[in-house]
Amino acid sequence: MAAGVDDRDRVEYHMYKGVPLPSHLDPKDMDDIQDFTVRDDDVFIITYPKSGTAWLQRIVSLLHFGGDVSKTDRKEQDELVPYFEQKVGDSAAFRKLTEVPSPRMMKSHLHFSHAPVQLTQGKGKVIYVARNPKDLAVSYYHFHFMCSTLKTPTSWEQFLQEFVNGEVSRGAWHDHVLGWWKHQDLPNVLFLRYEDLQKNTRKQVEKVAEFLQWPVTPEVIDKVVEESKFQKMATNPNTNKVSGKEAKAGIFDSSKGTFLRKGVAGDWKSHFNDEQSKWFDTFYQEKLGPTGLHFDFQ
Ligand code: A3P
Repeated sequence: MAAGVDDRDRVEYHMYKGVPLPSHLDPKDMDDIQDFTVRDDDVFIITYPKSGTAWLQRIVSLLHFGGDVSKTDRKEQDELVPYFEQKVGDSAAFRKLTEVPSPRMMKSHLHFSHAPVQLTQGKGKVIYVARNPKDLAVSYYHFHFMCSTLKTPTSWEQFLQEFVNGEVSRGAWHDHVLGWWKHQDLPNVLFLRYEDLQKNTRKQVEKVAEFLQWPVTPEVIDKVVEESKFQKMATNPNTNKVSGKEAKAGIFDSSKGTFLRKGVAGDWKSHFNDEQSKWFDTFYQEKLGPTGLHFDFQ
């Protein structure tokens, strides 16, 4: 029996409005999320998993505290910027947010059609981050080995097929990204790309600060860029998730993988063979071609 098959059978996803979700996402919570009361200054970082969510959590929290790490690092990043829909323990994070002072900062993997209705009508702020789907698939593949709420892959080939079929947790990547892409012109949505963050972090950090209308100096931007670098985050216990909340809850097992794994663009080349790459290109050309959404496969 291949490694991981036991685990794979143990983990179940449930379908919510056509999307496979991990079992910690309660359908009742998902329904109630639609009625969540959004505040004007709420900040939601929304992504399909493995698109750079943690990077944006770091950038936004550093901007909020003027680049002062003595303030950001008082708490684990996931406490400062909680995972909106996640249920660890007795209740989902979003239910505990009524007491949190503004501006609330949250991360989420919700589809546009599953998000709080007020958010989709222009209230609050959304920073959506998209990543090229080949690198994302590779990152998601490795993540499945360390995350106990996901089915352990039996092989790269099998995982890639399920990813393309939308049979992984959170469903088809293109549905998620296109759902938000189609609404990128809403004044409360900023659509970013992981690859642009890689190419020119400073420019993207400035964009985020401007979008949030948080006054910052060039020195603060310098500090945010410095403190959100991959190496800094990988060695910081508040951001690297080695012993954080999810590790304590048994969701992440760092003996089976690293959350901040490589942090590069182009790693897909070490996983896709030529045939897989061509097949994937054809499929995504079909899905994205007519939409104007384009990714550089570096
Ligand atoms: P890799 O697995 O390719 O290394 P998410 O937070 O959405 O789950 O995304 C995780 C991915 O973003 C991982 O990709 C991780 O290494 C990468 N990442 C996190 N912080 C980063 C940073 N500061 N710079 C570059 N990549 C980062």
